[in-house]
Amino acid sequence: MSETASIKLQGEIYELPVITGTENEKAIDISTLRDRTSHIVLDSGYKNTGSTKSAITFLDGEKGILRYRGYPIEQLAEKSTFLEVVYLLIYGELPKKDVLEKFNVQVQKNSLLHEDMKKFYDGFPHGAHPMGQLCSLVSSLTAFAPESLKMHASSEEVDSSIIKLIAKMPTIVSWIYKGSIGEPFIYPSKNLDYVANFMNMTFGQVTHDFEIDPVAVDALNKILILHADHEQNCSTSTVRTVGSSGSNLYASVSAAISALWGPLHGGANQEVIEMLETIKADGGGVEKWVNKAKDKDDPFRLMGFGHRVYRNFDPRAQIIKKACHDVLNKLGLDDEVLEIAIRLEEAALHDDYFVERKLYPNVDFYSGIISRALGFRTDLFTVIFALGRLPGWIAQWKEQRESKEPISRPRQIYTGYTTRDYIDVENR
Ligand code: SDX
Repeated sequence: MSETASIKLQGEIYELPVITGTENEKAIDISTLRDRTSHIVLDSGYKNTGSTKSAITFLDGEKGILRYRGYPIEQLAEKSTFLEVVYLLIYGELPKKDVLEKFNVQVQKNSLLHEDMKKFYDGFPHGAHPMGQLCSLVSSLTAFAPESLKMHASSEEVDSSIIKLIAKMPTIVSWIYKGSIGEPFIYPSKNLDYVANFMNMTFGQVTHDFEIDPVAVDALNKILILHADHEQNCSTSTVRTVGSSGSNLYASVSAAISALWGPLHGGANQEVIEMLETIKADGGGVEKWVNKAKDKDDPFRLMGFGHRVYRNFDPRAQIIKKACHDVLNKLGLDDEVLEIAIRLEEAALHDDYFVERKLYPNVDFYSGIISRALGFRTDLFTVIFALGRLPGWIAQWKEQRESKEPISRPRQIYTGYTTRDYIDVENR
């Protein structure tokens, strides 16, 4: 006997099916509710509403669990590489050695941009935000890959679009940075792996060899792995919504980049560093800022704190916090804002306001400190987040497409004027 939920409406009782996921999560299936009861459910921000079933990422906000295709991120961050996690998320299994090597070669072969794309970089005014550029440049890939526009593309054509996007993203991102500092673009090298190649294109110089620090490459692999997917967050829900209309992969990911840009989502990592710098400039005391964050009349929020799902620690923040110390020590760097961040975290975690609301540091709280230690400019932090999240967006877009889910089209409760007649402008 399958489990059901009973709902009583206007004296009548309706039975609705309950579905259970592989981790025993429960959902009431309301797909027949409106037809049977003329009622919909309303859940602003979808805090209690599932939009889909997915086999890609599992997280448990109460227990601080995050797994990609069943593998705990603690193990992947410690033992895997970002490109291997890219394959795992998109194709569902850890690749055998020969499959991974072939995937790596396919990515390397597709890492160049069409030379005409350089004209787009020339068109951006100096100071154009890197996320705005990234959004445009990813969408522009459709101009050079007409097969990506086919709604009923074959699986080979879909794989081609996927490989091209994975391969070209590091080049697109590094050239955004090079363009912003007026330095010549550096082309992908066939002698470097995915992350080392990205660092070389970003920080390398055409005038002299750039020594790639293995500590930095290891740290960036870890950061990108930790950002790779996070089930139905704002930007991933966006990629599924846009993809549900039959829109192509590049346009769907471009929309997700726009969603990630928001300061309440991926833009928070840039906001965190700017907040810490403000606190540093203000003398470094944290109590005043903790109190500002609690003051309902003050728009200030403790950026990098709180999470829609994690009502306990964000496991990614725990790993990144430790990596912060490791990277700064190994690179022989000292960053005063790390010390401020630790004091801020300590103060908040002992304050009733944050404890009662279960507000803990999230992935963005420490990631900016590592990104800065690796040499990335603050306005590039969210672009690095997008580079990391790309395989998750692709995997979710592909899963949505393969599951043949209907176009996303939520309902609403109308609260505007009831019917009224037009009045000529002379009589208004
Ligand atoms: C990411 O969803 C994901 O998975 C996202 C992400 C991913 O990997 O894709 O994990 C990445 O986006 C992490 C979040 C980055 N954003 C920030 O750090 C911005 C600061 N955090 C908040 O704005 C907020 O916590 C959110 C947006 C993250 C979550 O907001 P919710 O779930 O809508 O919670 P809420 O705004 O309703 O807050 C509940 C209460 C409120 O107080 P009361 O009305 O109950 O009195 O907590 C308060 C809020 O005012 N609150 C905060 C706070 N976050 C929530 N108060 C001060 N500072 C904060 N940061």
